[in-house]
Amino acid sequence: MERVFPLPGHDFRGPKGVLSVVMDLSTLFMGLGMPNPLIVSSSGLSASVEGVKKAVEAGAGAVVLKSLFEEDIAAAVEQTKSGMSESHPEAESYLRQMGMLLEPDEYLGFVENSVRLVDVPIIASLNCHSANWWVDYARRIEKVGADAIELNIAPLPTDPKLGSAKLEDDLVALVGLARREVKIPIAVKIGQHFSALPHLAARLHQVGADGLTLFNRYYRLDIDIEGLEFKPGDRLSAREEFAPVLRSIGIISSLTNLDISASTGVHGSSDVIKTLLVGGDTAQLCSVLYREGLGVVAKIKENLENWMGRHDYSTIADFRGLLSFRKRGAHYRRLQYVKALK
Ligand SMILES: Cc1cc2nc3c(=O)[nH]c(=O)nc-3n(C[C@H](O)[C@H](O)[C@H](O)COP(=O)(O)O)c2cc1C
Repeated sequence: MERVFPLPGHDFRGPKGVLSVVMDLSTLFMGLGMPNPLIVSSSGLSASVEGVKKAVEAGAGAVVLKSLFEEDIAAAVEQTKSGMSESHPEAESYLRQMGMLLEPDEYLGFVENSVRLVDVPIIASLNCHSANWWVDYARRIEKVGADAIELNIAPLPTDPKLGSAKLEDDLVALVGLARREVKIPIAVKIGQHFSALPHLAARLHQVGADGLTLFNRYYRLDIDIEGLEFKPGDRLSAREEFAPVLRSIGIISSLTNLDISASTGVHGSSDVIKTLLVGGDTAQLCSVLYREGLGVVAKIKENLENWMGRHDYSTIADFRGLLSFRKRGAHYRRLQYVKALK
């Protein structure tokens, strides 16, 4: 059943049309009305119904659930297949026809319960890198009521024969496949390392993506040089990591009709304001919540309202995109510190 969210500046008003808050932080993201542009991003914080509830109580405008990983789906399929007798050579097509009545069903229950519990958009997250079983899950996730899906696509090129064009073709094809399966909005979450991001973004829009989450911050590899062993790198981001996100959002939001969500290095209200100023639509919070707790959501909202008040803005539309690539392209084009050498 389709859930209806209040549209910006509309139903967030109190009786007789009087605004219930001084500033109206409401916004639209991929057609979904949100009370504010802050999203709790896919992480351990959004891995349980309890976590989702706490995020929304803290004031999040939407939540992206922890990803369901393609490997988990594949493992469940393999397990079921190996449990089937040799006399079932068509096991795969049988499973397909059965619509994947398999583990990890908990994820579907998690999506369904989250949607029931809260009245802000719930965005399920699917990790995928091959045109495989996850596609069935996209459909099933829609069926249990997710408001949108974020596809967490993380290709790691390790084959010298695989060029960037083929890698991007595959990525675009995955998104096209998902689009054919579901009607709900699809956001694509990718990493930073694409050489021609505007071209890729335009292609993703063409095959039916509604939004882009820029960027995923992957598990970092590090080495213990005494133990001569690998160890995890910094799990949480540093604030400086936000700068490339900002530039990309300014450019991509100007050149495509995709809705853009910022991720990586959004640590405070100033980063959220900058995201909106360059034309982004929403900002995702993760590391800052791990470091400072969910209370920071209310602080960011309050600071955003205060800033809007100081600048005489009463809605997000009043300032969104003021400093986008379309309006201030020369600033974005500057990559070198030429003058600093003189
Ligand atoms: C503990 C942890 C778990 C995460 N799990 C996921 C995940 O399942 N799916 C996903 O798309 N991103 C995942 N992320 C990445 C975050 O959603 C986010 O994109 C990244 O941390 C950058 O944002 P930040 O700078 O606000 O931390 C995870 C991050 C952390 C720290």
